[in-house]
Amino acid sequence: MNKSRGEDNFLNLPGFAARLYDSMMQTNAIRLTYQEIAQDLISRIKKGRLLDIGTGPGYLLLEIHKINPSIELFGLDISAAMVDQASRNLAEIKVDLQQGNIRATEYESEFFDLITCSGSFYLWDRPVEGIDEIHRILKDGRSAYLYETYRDIDKKILREIMRENLKSENLIRRMLAPRIFIKQLGMTYDKKEIKEILRKTRFANSYRIDDLTIVRLPVWLRIELKKYA
Ligand SMILES: C[S@@+](CC[C@H](N)C(=O)[O-])C[C@H]1O[C@@H](n2cnc3c(N)ncnc32)[C@H](O)[C@@H]1O
Repeated sequence: MNKSRGEDNFLNLPGFAARLYDSMMQTNAIRLTYQEIAQDLISRIKKGRLLDIGTGPGYLLLEIHKINPSIELFGLDISAAMVDQASRNLAEIKVDLQQGNIRATEYESEFFDLITCSGSFYLWDRPVEGIDEIHRILKDGRSAYLYETYRDIDKKILREIMRENLKSENLIRRMLAPRIFIKQLGMTYDKKEIKEILRKTRFANSYRIDDLTIVRLPVWLRIELKKYA
């Protein structure tokens, strides 16, 4: 029986599934989500190296580049098929993409000025090791920001907001997107579980969790992990 939280499925993801995921990411509400996260992040870094963990098709990196092209971009993903997809989507910009698991990376210690991640943390089989690896590769005095959805939320309200968000989309997207999103929410942690994980990491005394509404959806958390020297 596969006990993976989800990363194993991505490790073996076939190319067609990465392309299908990519096409779902063309939904306007999702593109706006990347734009809002990029805006939130960009105020925190003017220049330097930024890593997006679990970058998938790479759209968050693309939005960051549009706002500030001088930031050096890095993307990591466990899935070779997703890294291929990101290489195609980011062909026009300079970005260092690597296949790998955040649990143990090949980056030098204290390498990044900012580390981010959207909708990937909940899939990691060893979240404490992943978070401690973030601690190793982040520069002293800098922060990582994980943008995650959480599952203790009223699904009825969520469906109503999604109906509004998706009303300009085609029928297939209007039908599929809420199902995929609500299934994904069911796999995510609740707030208490996230705190229990963080307390076991090197950021135990230096994390902060804020509720966020992104594209009208009040299901997001911004988890800040601050590394003190
Ligand atoms: C739901 S997708 C989100 C992709 C992208 N961040 C986005 O917002 O569209 C999760 C991504 O995390 C990657 N992933 C899962 N576990 C990982 C791990 N342990 N290390 C690195 N990447 C991982 C998957 O391959 C997948 O591309």
